Amino acid sequence: MRLEVEITGKTFRSAAGETHEVLAPLKFVLSSGEVGVLIGPSGCGKSTMLRIILGLDRDFGGRVARPPEARIGMVFQEPRLLPWRSVEQNVRLAAPNVSDAKLSELFKILELDAHRRHFPGELSLGLARRVALARAFAVEPDLLVLDEPLASLDDALAGRLRDEIATLVASRPVMTLLVTHSIDDAIRLGDRLFFLSPRPARIVQEVPIAVPRAERSEAELVRIKAELAAVQLESK
Ligand SMILES: Nc1ncnc2c1ncn2[C@@H]1O[C@H](COP(=O)(O)OP(=O)(O)OP(=O)(O)O)[C@@H](O)[C@H]1O
Ligand SMILES: [Mg+2]
Repeated sequence: MRLEVEITGKTFRSAAGETHEVLAPLKFVLSSGEVGVLIGPSGCGKSTMLRIILGLDRDFGGRVARPPEARIGMVFQEPRLLPWRSVEQNVRLAAPNVSDAKLSELFKILELDAHRRHFPGELSLGLARRVALARAFAVEPDLLVLDEPLASLDDALAGRLRDEIATLVASRPVMTLLVTHSIDDAIRLGDRLFFLSPRPARIVQEVPIAVPRAERSEAELVRIKAELAAVQLESK
């Protein structure tokens, strides 16, 4: 499976009638098993690009080719849970075929066991984000799209969830697109990093990480980070 993105432009028209160019021409391909990471300044157009890639916004120039049968798991920047459904119902509605065993495993990993019967209004933002992750994972996606999924979690939990994302990605041939502001998350999870310009976003630099995810020791990560800093200095 492959995701092919070739956007020629995206503009928004404000209520006052002004046009805002949000995406410049940009192009990339993502294959099964690959994690692409989008890194760019706030407001540059990342979430807009994800909505286009998911087919939620069709008002843009260019084309996006997703495998038509691909199952999609999505974590939006806001957790977007159904407020009148419990945590467990929110996950089951998105993934009606999920087994009880799989659900229990996910709730355990994401430390949500105590919250199964709670409603979204009773959750902190960090908890709601974990429910959104459970929902995306429960779908067993072919295309996993994560818009800053680890924001507002404490470091320890973010680290554990990052490992879980890595495990999921390793366990199935999934194409993953991750938006993050964290270089640490990017180098631990990514295969290719796309650095974006301020709005209108274009890819200013694409940096592949050659070392397989499973072989990235702490020492290796330090080395990758230093290399990345050098590459970025060079490009300035
Ligand atoms: N529905 C909309 N109508 C008009 N303008 C919009 C709309 N959605 C987003 N924008 C504008 O498009 C630009 C890009 O927004 P977007 O949410 O894609 O940024 P982002 O890169 O995800 O930022 P962040 O890192 O803060 O999440 C912003 O200037 C935003 O105000
Ligand atoms: Mg965003």
